[in-house]
Amino acid sequence: NEHQWMAPGPNDLRGPCPGLNTLANHGFLPRDGKNLNMSVILDAALNGYHMQSDLLAGAVKISTLATDDPFSFTLEDIRLHGNIEHDASLSREDFALGNNFRFNETIFSTLANSNPGSDFYNTTSAGEVQRLRLADSEAKNPSINNTQKEFGTRCAESGFYLSVMGDPLAGVAPKEFVQIFFREERLPIAEGWHRSEIPINATTLLPLAVEIATASNWTSSGGCSVLEP
Ligand code: HEM
Ligand code: MG
Repeated sequence: NEHQWMAPGPNDLRGPCPGLNTLANHGFLPRDGKNLNMSVILDAALNGYHMQSDLLAGAVKISTLATDDPFSFTLEDIRLHGNIEHDASLSREDFALGNNFRFNETIFSTLANSNPGSDFYNTTSAGEVQRLRLADSEAKNPSINNTQKEFGTRCAESGFYLSVMGDPLAGVAPKEFVQIFFREERLPIAEGWHRSEIPINATTLLPLAVEIATASNWTSSGGCSVLEP
């Protein structure tokens, strides 16, 4: 079937976003990861995740800045550090410390091992993971950028994995689904996942992001949010 999961081939481009990589691995986005634009991404997110444009259009606009091509970008282009890509990610290394776009199991282990004793992740565990990931980056990365801009992006992204892999109203997602999403960039359909019946949009996401933000106990460690190619 058209939306079967397939691992990317040697000429297929992928990048730092597990959400978009997964859409490409299932053919909602071009499997080669190229020729992305506003309508291609908004259609894919709606079809694949029931995610609406109010959450994503801004990120797509910003991503057009990651390449000289005025009409399209690739999944790889969006790794441009300081554009959307930021430090203290959930599953990728900081730009100054290593590869900022490939999945990294060591980095991901903080999220994987969070909320012990439960089969679910929630906004409290997501906030705690953000706190731990930031502390790790602060300890290791003298070039860290950690301003309000990066913080806002990180809280939205944590809300994204809870919403897309779980219940977008409760902000609760099965650990098994979230781990498959990050590690394999696959929709865990065989394991019982299905696309959210209710649309995921700013109205559902904002309350989750606020809970995550509160639980993360964030403070700025400064830096600047300019492009550092
Ligand atoms: C990162 C999910 C759409 C660009 C992330 C992360 C998640 C996520 C969970 C955090 C990864 C980590 O911290 O390791 C999603 C979902 C989407 C989506 C479910 C629904 C379609 C988009 C769109 C764009 C985008 C539309 C831009 C065109 C990025 C970038 C990062 C990222 C550049 C890297 C940030 C970083 O961790 O440094 N996304 N995303 N994403 N996303 Fe997405
Ligand atoms: Mg990053």
